[in-house]
Amino acid sequence: MKTLIINIKELLQVRKSSILKISGAEMAILPTIKNAYLVIQNGLIADYGSMENLPEDLNPEKCIDVDGKMVLPAWCDSHTHIVYAGNREQEFVDRINGLSYEEIANRGGGILNSAQKLNETNEEELYNQSKVRLEEIMRLGTGAVEIKSGYGLTLEGELKILRVIKKLSKDYSITIKATFLGAHAIPQEFKENRKGYIDLIIDKMLPEIAKNKLAQFIDVFCETGYFTVLETEQIMKAGIQFGLKPKIHVNQFNSIGGIQAGIKHNALSVDHLEVMKPEDIEALKNTETMPVALPSCSYFLEIPYTPAREMMSAGLPLALATDFNPGSTPSGNMNFVISTACIKMKMTPEEVINAATINGAYAMGISETHGSITIGKKANLIITKPISSYYQLPYAFGSNLIDTVFIEGEVIA
Ligand code: NIG
Ligand code: FE
Repeated sequence: MKTLIINIKELLQVRKSSILKISGAEMAILPTIKNAYLVIQNGLIADYGSMENLPEDLNPEKCIDVDGKMVLPAWCDSHTHIVYAGNREQEFVDRINGLSYEEIANRGGGILNSAQKLNETNEEELYNQSKVRLEEIMRLGTGAVEIKSGYGLTLEGELKILRVIKKLSKDYSITIKATFLGAHAIPQEFKENRKGYIDLIIDKMLPEIAKNKLAQFIDVFCETGYFTVLETEQIMKAGIQFGLKPKIHVNQFNSIGGIQAGIKHNALSVDHLEVMKPEDIEALKNTETMPVALPSCSYFLEIPYTPAREMMSAGLPLALATDFNPGSTPSGNMNFVISTACIKMKMTPEEVINAATINGAYAMGISETHGSITIGKKANLIITKPISSYYQLPYAFGSNLIDTVFIEGEVIA
């Protein structure tokens, strides 16, 4: 099947050679072609160029005229927890009434609340609840997503989440990567026996997950009150032995050395980064580890935003993701993420589009196939509504500027 899209007002994020990530000052540059065409064949980007050079012998089965609209790669959301049961709307109201996220967690709410709900929910019901969120983010323009476990905190619960993620990735065309986050919190029954829970992760959960090929990445919530740097290292090392690459939660509330630990173990990404010391930025220089900011989480919890400008000035790359989860970010809207990054982190439209496409793809290990308009990459695309310039995308926050989403060359409903 060959589809031709013509009269594209501006084709965004065009990269001739397959660049894997964008760093520092380069993030301010977004290559585009005005008045362009694009050819999709067998789910991939087969050709593109300026309308002036449109070949006459293309013979497409389908031709779409998108006069006035723009085309860009679908968003790459490299950090979510969308497989969860129920919600935490009561905690949201408790926070409005004055309790902090930490106080709620200390009362047995937070992650442990979600874990209890998840363990009471059967696999089919969990799948049905989660697919609603997956379909929603696809309509919002996400073409690749990472999904974490971490609301089971029992062998059966963690496996259940990872099996649901696997079934979602079989049933839907969106690219899905799975991350094992057994080390999300210490469950109540292990409060006096942390070592017992870490042993359970390493000796029971990891072998089972690896045997059934249920995850590609290993995550740990490295934070005061959750997992120490030493425990994080121990769990990352064990994950690596089972073939999982680390992608870890660090520096959300405190800077305790998680970034340095991640880099030491070649983490693909270090995520959150709301609280950054100068030495944290220094440590990330000249590494292959992608820093990932989650501005919707900062918004929802009213915590600091990742210091994007300082990090990019230091030459670092940056990716943006949603963190979609029931506690700290009940939203999977990448369009809101890019607006918030512009408004609150003072990133430019060019920088946020780079961060939410190619750099997001890098943070999932898929930037050879996703995240830019490059021949041979997946035809995962957003067609916008008619817009005056791509500045509209972050500027008109709250408006839905997406006309159509293509995933693997097919329009999704
Ligand atoms: O990324 N910080 C750790 N985990 C999630 C939130 C967990 C929750 O509150 O359910 C996050 O923000
Ligand atoms: Fe998270």
